[in-house]
Amino acid sequence: MDIVKLKKSALEEIKKATEAKALEIIRVKYLGRKDGEVNKILRSLKDLPLAKKKKIGPAANVLRKEIEMALEKKIKQFSVEQKSSRLDITMPGKRIAVGHLHPLTLMENKIKEIFLGLNFSSVEGPEVETEYYNFDALNIPANHPARDMWDTFWIKSKVQNQKSKMLMRTHTSPMQIRYMETHKPPFQIIVPGRVFRFEATDVSHEINFHQVEGLMVGKNVNLANFKYVIEQFFRQLFGPHIAIRMRPSYFPFVEPGLEIDIKLGDKWLEVMGAGMVHPNVLKAVGYDPKEIQGFAFGLGLERLAMIKYKIDDIRLFYSGDLRFINQF
Ligand code: FA5
Repeated sequence: MDIVKLKKSALEEIKKATEAKALEIIRVKYLGRKDGEVNKILRSLKDLPLAKKKKIGPAANVLRKEIEMALEKKIKQFSVEQKSSRLDITMPGKRIAVGHLHPLTLMENKIKEIFLGLNFSSVEGPEVETEYYNFDALNIPANHPARDMWDTFWIKSKVQNQKSKMLMRTHTSPMQIRYMETHKPPFQIIVPGRVFRFEATDVSHEINFHQVEGLMVGKNVNLANFKYVIEQFFRQLFGPHIAIRMRPSYFPFVEPGLEIDIKLGDKWLEVMGAGMVHPNVLKAVGYDPKEIQGFAFGLGLERLAMIKYKIDDIRLFYSGDLRFINQF
């Protein structure tokens, strides 16, 4: 084979080699003592005329040097690559990011803790409700204007002959009915959970938010009991100096009805609806309103978390923005 071609193919093969083993095979092929291509040329010199011998001999030796150098260079390259991929167990470890609870979860846990301390139990109910539990049983019949306060998302049900339409619950109050239907008074419960409303969002309104319902039912339960419980609750949550305001309001499922506001700076923020459970609601679950009474309330979890953590826009809770969430 001629020297120029030999050089070209040897250098190309070396270039393409991806591991040290391949380099050894190349070395044997070209520089091997017995059958190496370069040696074959040197051995054939003896049959050549002197002029050619003088030319080809030194050229073959130069080729040998060139191949040796190329092989050496490539081997060095491999060992550098190997070194850099080696595991250095003395390096400091990577810091593993530890997660933490969302401010709304923190708030819910705190609220539960306070009410458990006041001898309430915590229960949960379904987020998809029937029209009956969300409205009718709460003294809000189909054409009642109060339904306008709670526009929501209706669900197309696949269940045949279903009596009641399905919807995303607009408040946690349906659990008042579900609980009373299956339990005998006296009892006191809270019901934390997600609720949904079809309305425009702004700094204090979301279409998806959380409430904590409260219900205390028994023989002589009255508004003074409610006032005590709720003052205890807010003092434990915000400190003894928190200013609370109760004002008359209207909800079809209570009588009388109240709205509770908390003072923030020089403004009052509405945080909860409440009242004495309406006789029609007590009748709907089979209780005798002359025997049994109760108070109920429904507070907005986001609104309380906004006060507690000084958050000025409710939409931040669901933004998924790490700059916000990592502050808790
Ligand atoms: C109710 O949902 C009644 N079920 C509360 C109730 C329970 C009254 C038991 C009487 C007896 P209201 O729609 O006002 O009421 O909502 C209660 C609280 O949820 C409000 O005070 C407010 O804190 C919060 N809230 C209401 N709408 C939104 C909204 N779009 N985004 C965030 N929080 C809201």
